[in-house]
Formats: sequence, structure tokens, C-alpha cells
Amino acid sequence: MREAARVGTEMDMRVLVTGGCGFIGTNVVRRWRSERPDWTLVNLDKLTYAANPENLADLERDPKYIFVRGDVGNEELVSHVLESRKIDAVVHMAAESHVDRSILGPGIFIESNVRGTQVLLDACKRAKVSRFVMVSTDEVYGSLGPTGLFTESTPLAPSSPYSASKAAADLIALAYHHTFEMDVVVTRCSNNYGAFQFPEKFIPLMITNAMRDESLPVYGDGGNVRDWIHVDDHATGILAALEKGKAGETYNFGGSSERRNIDVAKQILAQLKKPETLLKFVQDRAGHDRRYAIDASKAKRDLGWSPAHDFENGLAETVRWYVGHPEWIEKTRSGEYRNYYDKQYGARLA
Ligand code: NAD
Ligand code: TYD
Repeated sequence: MREAARVGTEMDMRVLVTGGCGFIGTNVVRRWRSERPDWTLVNLDKLTYAANPENLADLERDPKYIFVRGDVGNEELVSHVLESRKIDAVVHMAAESHVDRSILGPGIFIESNVRGTQVLLDACKRAKVSRFVMVSTDEVYGSLGPTGLFTESTPLAPSSPYSASKAAADLIALAYHHTFEMDVVVTRCSNNYGAFQFPEKFIPLMITNAMRDESLPVYGDGGNVRDWIHVDDHATGILAALEKGKAGETYNFGGSSERRNIDVAKQILAQLKKPETLLKFVQDRAGHDRRYAIDASKAKRDLGWSPAHDFENGLAETVRWYVGHPEWIEKTRSGEYRNYYDKQYGARLA
């Protein structure tokens, strides 16, 4: 290990972020470049269907931003990046992230999320990286009934191949702390929304379908509840965990904004002035978790973190962002997305 004290105290930290061309990664890189201008950010991303390097195109000439295309499961490459770029800390966000895709094909989730995380951890251990932040998810806790909140001590009970792969990665990271005394901090955040989210996820899918007057596929009875958080608030949470988190600890982040899916879909339609007749209740997701809700009091108390966005304003701002970026939407919705959409929704919307 390099001296843990480097993290959070040094002006010139060199941080490897993985998955920086995805939704959260893009927002993290953009925000941290302006909030921590002295840091160097190295972004390792494989560029899967979910990535969009153009999101960060304006940083191409920024000497403190370096993009490396590659897989976190490529041992040689990861070790080379850690050594040659003299990385102090790693923030691991790269993952296959969509539950529905994990139901259609779990294999890549195990490969990237589980094996990829283990390879990255091993490389960080060898390179004596000062801190490893594992960006996990509240989905590792499974599903809640009508009441109660997830705390950091809620037992892990993931239900989808996606959440099971994230739980494995999350626990492997904690095991590297316990067994090898690696400096690991785990974050578990609720559902994010905001700019640059790939339109396979609920909120951008509803917005982009409504913009085109296409049906909004609502799974089951629409009564499933998610606890929404603005992606910027997640980005400040991960930063706080990196700088102030205690090794071996886990921190929940959430926006205290529990909403039923059907209500969110109706809000989006109202903002876009589209009719509710576009709503279409379709066959439910297999094993669909009913409710997520986060108790983030530990992060508030120990990291001094709190969310800055309220859901209604954040959602309105997000809808405006999509309306203002038709070319971005067109690009993400072409090619591979079309095949996925037909496979996922063809029979459901027929
Ligand atoms: P995303 O799918 O938008 O982006 C994932 C990024 O990781 C993409 O750029 C992709 O190319 C890259 N990637 C995938 N496999 C890779 C590999 N093997 N090697 C290198 N790069 C690879 O996902 P997101 O929504 O931005 O989520 C980022 C992280 O945050 C994930 O770990 C996810 O589990 C976690 N998370 C997401 C949410 C959410 O609501 N989106 C909530 C909590 C936690
Ligand atoms: P999603 O954005 O996939 O996030 P997660 O499943 O990881 O929480 O889905 C959010 C909620 O929206 C979830 O309850 C499933 C539901 N949903 C739909 O009703 N229709 C859809 O087309 C999608 C993608 C999701």
C-alpha cells in the first residue's frame, strides 16, 4: 500500500476511474475535473454499448484527463495503467448495469462485474494503491416490503443476476480489506437519474419514448417503488467516500425520494404535455424487486454528505436535457439498441 494519508490530503492526486464513459462515470469525471482541478483522472473504459466517449469529447485536450480503452479484467493492461500512471486511488464504476439485460444474458455480468473486479483488486494490491472505492448498489439488499429502509447492516439478499454480480463484487472488495488489509471503501447507492443516462433505464426510456409519441412500457402494476437520487448527488457522495470514508466501511447514498414507477411516468408525460394514453402496462419483469428505500444517515453523519437536488426539479431539468439533445438520443438509440429493444419489448408491446 502507498501511504493511505495521500488520499484526501494531496492536491495532485492521480485517480483511476473505471467506466468513466458510462452514465455515472461521465457525470463523475465532468464534476470532479471542475471540483478537483489539480487531480489527474485516468479513465479506463472498455466502451461497451452503454458507453459514449463523446460525452467527454471536450476534455480531449485537458492534460489532466487521460482516456484508456480497455477491460478491467485485462490483468496486464490494468497493472500497466496503475504503474505507468502512478495511480494513488481507484474508483471502480465499470460494470454491466442493466437488470433486464442480466435476465436475457447473465454471463457477461459475471465476467465484467465479478471477475473484472477481482482482477482489478489484485492489480491494486500489487501496485499498493492507497484506496479502492467500490461503487456498489442498494440492489444488493434485495427487496423491501411496504415499510422500512436499507441500512448498511441490512443483510445482502440480491435477486437478479445483475444485483447478485454486484453483491459478489462488493463482498470480494470487502474481503480484500479484511484479508489483505487493503484500503477499501464501499458505496451503495439507490437509483440515479440525470443527464447522459442510456435510454434503456426507466426514466430516460420513458422520456425518449414519450418524445416520439411511442408507448411507455410500465412493468406489472406500476406500483414498484424506487428511491431516486440525482446523479450529481451520487458523484458528490463517491467523492466524499474517497476523501473521508473509513477503510473497510460501507456507505449508503439515497435521495429520500421514493416514487412509484407509474407516478414517475405520469410526471414525465405531464411535463412533455403528452397524453396518459401512451402508458402501457406490460408483462412484469421476472423476479421484479418491489421496493427500494435508503437510510443514508451514516453518510450524512460520517462523511458530511447530503443530497442537493429535490426530485421534482431534478426530473424537470433531466427532461429538458433530453429534449435539448436529440442527436445524443438518436446515436444511443441506433444500432445495438434496436436489437435489444425488439428482444426486450417486442412481445410485451405487441
Ligand atoms: P453504465 O452502464 O451507464 O456504464 C457502465 C460503464 O462501464 C460503460 O461505460 C461501460 O463501457 C463500462 N464497462 C462495462 N464493462 C466494462 C469492463 N469489463 N471493463 C471496462 N469498462 C467496462 O452504468 P452506470 O449506470 O453509469 O453505473 C455505473 C456504476 O454504478 C455501476 O457499477 C453500477 O452498478 C453502479 N450503480 C448504478 C446505479 C444507477 O442507478 N445507474 C445506482 C447504484 C450503483
Ligand atoms: P431500471 O431503470 O431498470 O432500474 P432498476 O431495475 O435497476 O431499479 O428500472 C426502474 C424501475 O422501472 C423498475 O421497477 C423496473 C421499472 N421499469 C419499467 O416499468 N419499464 C421499463 O421499461 C423499465 C426499463 C423499467
